[in-house]
Amino acid sequence: MTKETAIYCSGLTKVYPAPEGHLEVHALRGLDLEIKVGEQVAITGPSGCGKSSFLNILGTLDRPSAGQVKVFGQSIEDLNPKERALYRRNTAAFVFQQFHLIPTLTALENVSLPLHYAGVNAEEARERADKALAKVGLDHRKGHLPALLSGGEQQRVAVARALVTEARLLLADEPTGNLDGATAKDIMALLLESIGDQRTLIVVTHDPEIAAQIGRRIQLRDGLIEKDELSKKVES
Ligand SMILES: Nc1ncnc2c1ncn2[C@@H]1O[C@H](COP(=O)(O)OP(=O)(O)O)[C@@H](O)[C@H]1O
Ligand SMILES: [Mg+2]
Repeated sequence: MTKETAIYCSGLTKVYPAPEGHLEVHALRGLDLEIKVGEQVAITGPSGCGKSSFLNILGTLDRPSAGQVKVFGQSIEDLNPKERALYRRNTAAFVFQQFHLIPTLTALENVSLPLHYAGVNAEEARERADKALAKVGLDHRKGHLPALLSGGEQQRVAVARALVTEARLLLADEPTGNLDGATAKDIMALLLESIGDQRTLIVVTHDPEIAAQIGRRIQLRDGLIEKDELSKKVES
């Protein structure tokens, strides 16, 4: 059975305007790409090749300069601010390199937050956040503020926060970039195992060892796709 398309890009282009006295930056030079629902994809390539630009467009944190981008059939290049907020609440969830937890909220409150924004009542939000934290192995750290958690634990909270909603697309930009090697492996394993087979995962990483754990790897170079490869294991 052919799977539904999660992401469709055609001629996706991003040009940043020229800072004074400099040339404009062509961050994405016309990407054509299709990703199926439930696929796990690593976006790799050297620093500055356009990885974050691509992910930010998929998350509606930024807009393309030209080209088409559809997520689950919906064109996202021209969403207004309200539609973008809804999209980020219901469709796409982010995990960032810097965790981006709210420092004054406990782990549990951080994970509940997207549910409160979505209008889920407090009791249900708490229950779901509890479950999500248990899933990432942080049952015993629920009441802790982020500053009292290790980097790996903070990223576990961020993963729980991303997975607590129904978001079908998980976008992770260098999610292991601030973690030591062993913790990085743990977090990747956690992401891959908790994503299930309905959610689509896109992980930006410049670390080949991390990328090797992911079935499909799309390598960018200078704003273009240089390589798009599937692991043997996944092809069979
Ligand atoms: N907001 C911005 N304004 C101007 N140039 C930018 C901006 N964001 C990124 N760039 C430039 O676009 C190119 C691609 O950047 P980025 O997508 O962040 O690459 P990567 O994530 O692969 O390191 C780089 O040359 C970077 O300096
Ligand atoms: Mg980047």
